[in-house]
Parts: sequence; C-alpha cells; structure tokens
Amino acid sequence: MCGIVGYVGTNKAVPYLIEGLSKLEYRGYDSAGIAVNIGGAVKVIKAKGRLSNLERIVDMDMDTVLGIGHTRWATHGAPSDVNAHPHTNSNETIAVIHNGIIENYMEIKDWLINDKKCVFKSETDTEVIAHLIDYYYDGDLMSAVRKAADRMEGAYAIGVIAKDEPDRLVAVRKDSPLIVGLGVNENFIASDIPALLKYTRDILLIENDEFVDLSKDKVTIYNSLGQEQKREIYKVTWDIDAAEKEGFEHFTLKEIFEQPKGVRETLFRRLNAEDDLAMEGIRLTADELKNINKIYIVACGTAYHAGLVGRRAIEAFAKIPVECDVASEFRYRDPFIDERTLFIAVSQSGETLDTLQSLREAKRKGARVLSIVNVVGSSVARESDDLFYTWAGPEIGVASTKAFTTQLIAFYLIAMHFGRMNGKLTEEEFKTTITEMKTLPEKVTEVLAKSEEIQKLAAKQFNNEKVFFMGRGVDSDLAMEASLKLKEISYINSFAIPAGELKHGTIALIEDETFVVALATQDRLYDKMLSNIKEVKARGAHVFAIAKEGHLQIDKTADEVFYIPNTSDALAPLLAIIPMQLFAYYVSTLRGNDVDKPRNLAKSVTVE
Ligand code: F6R
Repeated sequence: MCGIVGYVGTNKAVPYLIEGLSKLEYRGYDSAGIAVNIGGAVKVIKAKGRLSNLERIVDMDMDTVLGIGHTRWATHGAPSDVNAHPHTNSNETIAVIHNGIIENYMEIKDWLINDKKCVFKSETDTEVIAHLIDYYYDGDLMSAVRKAADRMEGAYAIGVIAKDEPDRLVAVRKDSPLIVGLGVNENFIASDIPALLKYTRDILLIENDEFVDLSKDKVTIYNSLGQEQKREIYKVTWDIDAAEKEGFEHFTLKEIFEQPKGVRETLFRRLNAEDDLAMEGIRLTADELKNINKIYIVACGTAYHAGLVGRRAIEAFAKIPVECDVASEFRYRDPFIDERTLFIAVSQSGETLDTLQSLREAKRKGARVLSIVNVVGSSVARESDDLFYTWAGPEIGVASTKAFTTQLIAFYLIAMHFGRMNGKLTEEEFKTTITEMKTLPEKVTEVLAKSEEIQKLAAKQFNNEKVFFMGRGVDSDLAMEASLKLKEISYINSFAIPAGELKHGTIALIEDETFVVALATQDRLYDKMLSNIKEVKARGAHVFAIAKEGHLQIDKTADEVFYIPNTSDALAPLLAIIPMQLFAYYVSTLRGNDVDKPRNLAKSVTVE
C-alpha cells in the first residue's frame, strides 16, 4: 500500500526520492509523484501508472536538496494524475504525502470549502491535509502540522514540505508505518527500510502520535504533547542483497528459494546447544498459561492460513481450544474475550490494519497478546505482550511465501512450548518433533531441487481457467493457501475445498479435464483422500496429487504425483506448500503477469 519517502540534505534530492520509491514499489501502487522545494517554490511532478512514467517526466538533475515522494494505492478517488500525491494547498506553498486514511476528511473539506473558500483539485482525502496545514501556517511548519493533526481522525503517516522553509521536512505518524534514516549531512523518512538501505543502516522507529522535525543535520522527535523524545538508533543488520533480486528473475522466485534459509534461521535461533527451546520474546509463564482457557488466532490472507495450521498444532501439542479468524471479521463480531484469553496475531508486515485493530480490541477486552511478526519494530510487534519474530528476512514479492513457512515454524515451536509448560506434551514427543524439525531445511531444499517437475506441470496447465485444490485435515487448510497463491498471481479462478465436502455441492463443477490438485500428505486420512481422488476422476478430472514419499498406491489413482520427503503429518504442510508456490509462480510467468506486483494488490494493507 502507499509508500512515502523524503529527503533533506546537501545532495540533489530527486535521485534519492526516485530510488527510494523504486524500493517501495513492492508495496503496491497505481501512481507516483514527488514534490521538491526549488528556488523558493514548491514544484510537484506526478504521473498515473508505474514509476517509470514519473521517471520519464522528471529532471533528475533538479537543483533541490529537499523533497518528498509517494507511491499511491487508490482509496479515495480513482488512480489518475490529479489524484496522485503529493497534494498542495491552493497557492502551492505546502506539499503533502500521506499513507493511510483521514476518516473525517469530508467534514474538514466542507469547512475548508464553505468557510475558507479553498479550491480542491482532487477527490482525495489527502488534499484536505495540505489546505489544513496552510490554514494554520504562520512560518513554523511543525506548529501548523501539529494543529492540523489535532483535527484529523484516522490513520496516517505524513511528510510535509513548505515553500518558505527550504531546509525543513516535517513528518507525523499515527497507525501507518514511518521510519527515519540518519545520514551524514542528510536525513530521510520512509515507510520501510528497503527504501533507505542504500544510504544508511541507522534507523529511528517512529511511534504512534509522534512528530518528526528533520533538517540536514538534525532530527528531533516530539510526542503529542510537544515533548522531545529520545530514541535509540536501530541498526539494520540484514544485507542490502536481501532486498535485491540477486540474479533471480523475480523477488517471488528468489523468496521461494530462500525458504531453506528462513526456516533454518527461524528454528535454530530458538534452539540452544542442548536442543532445548529458547523462546526469549515469549514471557508468558506456566502459571499464566494455566489461566488461559482459550486462544484466538487472528490474521489476514496467507498469515491467516498459517494460523489455521497453527491452530491444529496448538490443539495437538498443547490441548488448548483454539479459534482462528480473519481479522476483518473478528473485529466486528464482538468475540467473547476476557483476561483468560490469549490472542495470537500473525503478520508478516506487522502493519495490516485489520490485524492491528483486532489486536487492540482484544487487548481492550483484557486478552494477553502474543504476535508472530516478520518486520522488526512494526506496529503489531510493538503493541504485543509476547513476541515471536520470524526470521524470513525482507519479503518484497506481494505473494507471501517465505513468511508463510517461517510462520509455520513459529507455530510449531509455540505449540510445543505451551505443551511442555502445561504438561500435555511429553519430553519424548518434544524431542522426536524437534529432531524431525531440524531436518526440514534440508527437506525444503530437496523439494526445491524438483522445481522442474512443477515447471512442466505449469506448462501444461497455465491456460486452464479453473483449478480446484482439495485436502483433508491440515491439507484442507493448506488447500486454501495453495488456492490463494495461484489466484493472486495468475488471476485464475481457483477454489479450495475440504475433500470430504465435495459431495455436498462442489463436485457438480467437476467435468472432463477439470484440473484438481489433491493434497494427500496426511497418513491418517490417506485412504479417504484416495477415495476422493477416485470420485473426481470418475467425473473426468485430471488429478495432480502431492503425497509423501513411500505412499505408493496414489500413483495408480492420480494422473500425476509430486512426492515430498517423508515427515510427520503435523510438519508436512511446510513441505507440501512449496510445490504449490512454485506452481503459482510458473503459471503466472507463463501468462505474462507481473508476478511480483500483481494487479490490484498491495504488500502491506494499511487500510480497512
Ligand atoms: C498473500 C498475501 C496476503 C497477506 C495479508 C496479510 O500472498 O501476501 O494475503 O498475507 O495481506 O499480510 P501481513 O502478513 O503483512 O499481515
């Protein structure tokens, strides 16, 4: 979703802004723009569509040392040149970029039009911010931004420059991501670390309701009361290569192939020399766990699917009842929560608004909050009582891949940790599972080594307009993730169904050559899956099955079989999803789609 960057320094600002925006493209956008202070005037340049459209009309050599830039993902008003950010006041003395939503913008806009005779050019909520700041401006940009923020409701990260202050950049954060990068004789703002990594590793994480005043040699953070805030510098330790393609054609493919590393890091960082668990971020004690009588796992999209797998792991290892819900539904269904509830939020970005608001709602009702997050210092991470960071590294491709497999590792470890604390998991079961888990990175590598098999499958199926994924037990959860992956990057109609539900309706859609993917990794339910495969085959379906090595009869039942290395039923989803991620990737490229930035989608969904 929208990305923001800002630069104040001694070098020419435009190349920094464009480079920063290019690193935020992955978040999803439909237009881009910059505003600079040049010769004592504010100049705005913006264009609908890809960043390359902006690059074509912008002069990189402009003589300016102060600027802001934005990639917009349309919410209020269609994608267009005029709705693109930055926005200005009527006299074009103030320019604003904004990520988020101003909920009361209509009311402010009416007031500005009727009482203050402001003239609006766009349909956006953001334009009111520029007019409002102008209304309060008396030569001190920070003071005007503070007064404007007092009147605004909603979620926002905002960057502002003014014509009369050619060496000052002001920013404010409320519920939308904002970071500051510290340089030598230059300072930056951005939505996310990749935008700054080429220039600095010294980052300040800005908290909610904080205002930042930046000049080339000073950064000052204030809270909502105007008090100066101290902030430790967060040193980015991951390499810039982690945010580059490194020879892969797409980030998505690179990230699929990074899974052995992500799985290894996430697991081994939680094991000590004796193979015992070291769950530092989780402070919940055995006594506190005893008091928990229910767990809610809440997330969106792929993170929700990881939650579904996690629910089964917690129920199996710790025998605690778990409900799993999508955050956009959870927020509005008045769930039964009290101080005996543990709320688990799962989020790669840690900024997904529905997940964040669900977390706050659960906290308000007394729940303890544990979160599984990839982005260090993100909102979800900061607002949680207990924290498990996945070690996937930055995920740039919009389709979540390595975040999912590392989230599964997180759930397995948390489930076992709880099971040991409440005595529901024996030491023997724990040791066997950990031993098995330690083989997973190698097994993921083995699966990836067979990517050609999946490439061939994609070459046969990429023109299909309808695909079904079915499974039983945890494979029915995984079918949902496999289906989401395919539809979001290939735009093919794909459906996920618990195989036992087929006969209750969906089988009516199966006809000659319908492509069905049967996930059949669960020993306990294997024979039942074979029957389901026979049912769809009898209606003419072409079945591609995923099974564990050693499961023999399936090659006589399905048309094609992909074997994953043998592992326990509980851990099988981590291996079985990989061929499906590859399938979605190869189909998408064969259809000529923009795999890393699929249409209409954003990486970090910071609006409702
Ligand atoms: C799908 C995908 C999305 C995200 C969802 C939640 O591939 O990427 O479904 O999983 O938007 O995002 P996070 O995990 O950042 O909260």
